[in-house]
Amino acid sequence: MKKTLRYGQVGGSLGAFIGGVHRIGIAFDGRAALTAGCFSRKEEANRETGEFYGLDPARVYGDFETMAKAEGAREDGIDFAVITTPNNAHYAAAKAFLENGIHVLCEKPLCFTVGEAEELCRLAEEKGLLFGVNYSYSGNVMVKEARAIIRRGDIGEIINVNAEYLQEYLVDDVGKSGDAMLKLSSWRKDPEVAGISNCVGDIGSHIEHTVAYMTGLKLKRVAAMLDRFGQPLDLNANILVEYENGAHGVYSCSQVCVGHMNGLVTRIYGTEGAIEWVQENPNILYVTKKGQPTEIHHRGMGYVSGEAAAFSRLPSGHPEGLFVAFANIYKAFLSAVLKKANGEPLTAADLDFPTARDGLDGVRFVRACVESGARDAAWVEV
Ligand SMILES: NC(=O)c1ccc[n+]([C@@H]2O[C@H](COP(=O)([O-])OP(=O)(O)OC[C@H]3O[C@@H](n4cnc5c(N)ncnc54)[C@H](O)[C@@H]3O)[C@@H](O)[C@H]2O)c1
Repeated sequence: MKKTLRYGQVGGSLGAFIGGVHRIGIAFDGRAALTAGCFSRKEEANRETGEFYGLDPARVYGDFETMAKAEGAREDGIDFAVITTPNNAHYAAAKAFLENGIHVLCEKPLCFTVGEAEELCRLAEEKGLLFGVNYSYSGNVMVKEARAIIRRGDIGEIINVNAEYLQEYLVDDVGKSGDAMLKLSSWRKDPEVAGISNCVGDIGSHIEHTVAYMTGLKLKRVAAMLDRFGQPLDLNANILVEYENGAHGVYSCSQVCVGHMNGLVTRIYGTEGAIEWVQENPNILYVTKKGQPTEIHHRGMGYVSGEAAAFSRLPSGHPEGLFVAFANIYKAFLSAVLKKANGEPLTAADLDFPTARDGLDGVRFVRACVESGARDAAWVEV
C-alpha cells in the first residue's frame, strides 16, 4: 500500500511568487516529497533551488521535456508534476508529463487556446491520468460550505450573481506607454508570455471558477468591456454573464482599483436567500435567508457541513488562509493520486479539486471575454 508520493516541480525557483506556495501547500500533509525539478530556465537559479531543497543534482533538469522523459523512465520516478511557470509554458509542460505517464497539477490559466485545453483534457483522459488545475480559492472551507448550502437549496433557485476581484497594483501603468512598461515589469502584461489577456486571464479566471464551483452554474455567454489604458493587454474588465439556466450576473475584475489588495468577493442571490464570501476574510460566510437578518457562519463550528468541515485544519477563530486553501487542493489531489497508485476506485468525492475540464472552462471564458471586448461588448457564446 503506497502512503507517500514523489513530485517534481516546473518553475518556482527561489524568489518566484507562487511556486513556493505550492511547496508549502503540499508539505502541509506530509504525503509527498519534492524529488525533481526544473525550477527555472536560468541555470543558476535552477541549480540553487535544487540545492536549497537538497535534491539529487541528477534530478534537477535544464528543461521540462528532459525532466518528463527521464522521470517517466525511472523506477523511482515522480508520481506527479506541479507546473508553476508563467502561462506560456503550461501547455507544453503539461503535455510532456502526460505523455510520459505522470499525473499533473498545473497553474491557471490552463493554457492559451481552447484547442490546447481540449487536447490536454483528452490526453489525460485517454491515459487515465489525474490533472488538477490550481484554482486555489475553491480550496477554502467556506467556499466549500457555500457550495453545500447552495446544493441543499437553502437560498432557493439562483437568480443573480455579483462577483468581483479587485487589485490596485497596476494603477501606475494607466496611460503609460505599453512598450516602456513591458520592459520594466511583469510578464503578465506581455502577450507572448501571458496569452490573450492579462487581467481576465489572471484574476477574472478565479471569479469564473469560484462562482462555478459554489453554484454549479454553467456559463452560456458573456458581454465584456476590457480596458487596456495604453498597455498591450487588459488591466480592467466589466463583464455581463448569462448562465445556461437563464440567470444573469456581473463579474468585475481589475488591477487598477486603488484601495483593493486581493479583493475577490462572490455574492450569490437566490429566490430564498443570499450568500457572500470575501477572500480577504475567508473563514466566514455571510448567509441571509429572505426576510431574516444576515447570519455570519464561522469555519470550524459544528453547523458547518461534513463535506466542507473535512477540509478544516484548525478550531474556529484560528484564521486559516491562502496556504491552507492550497493545502486543501493538494489534500484532495494527493488522495486521488494515492488511490490510483493503489488501484482503488475513485469516487466523485475523491475528485473535489479543480480538473483540466475546469481549466478548459476557464480558457473558454477568457477567449469569449476577449472576443466580446474586441467587438464592443457584443454577446459572445462561451
Ligand atoms: N492560483 C493562484 O492563486 C495563482 C497566484 C499567482 C500566480 N498564479 C499562476 O502561477 C503561474 C506563475 O506565476 P508567478 O507569479 O509565480 O510567476 P513568477 O514569474 O514569480 O515565477 C515563474 C517561475 O517560473 C520559472 N520559469 C519560467 N519559464 C520556465 C520554463 N520554461 N521552465 C522552467 N521554469 C520556468 C521562472 O524562473 C520562475 O521561477 C502563472 O501561471 C500564474 O497565473 C496563480
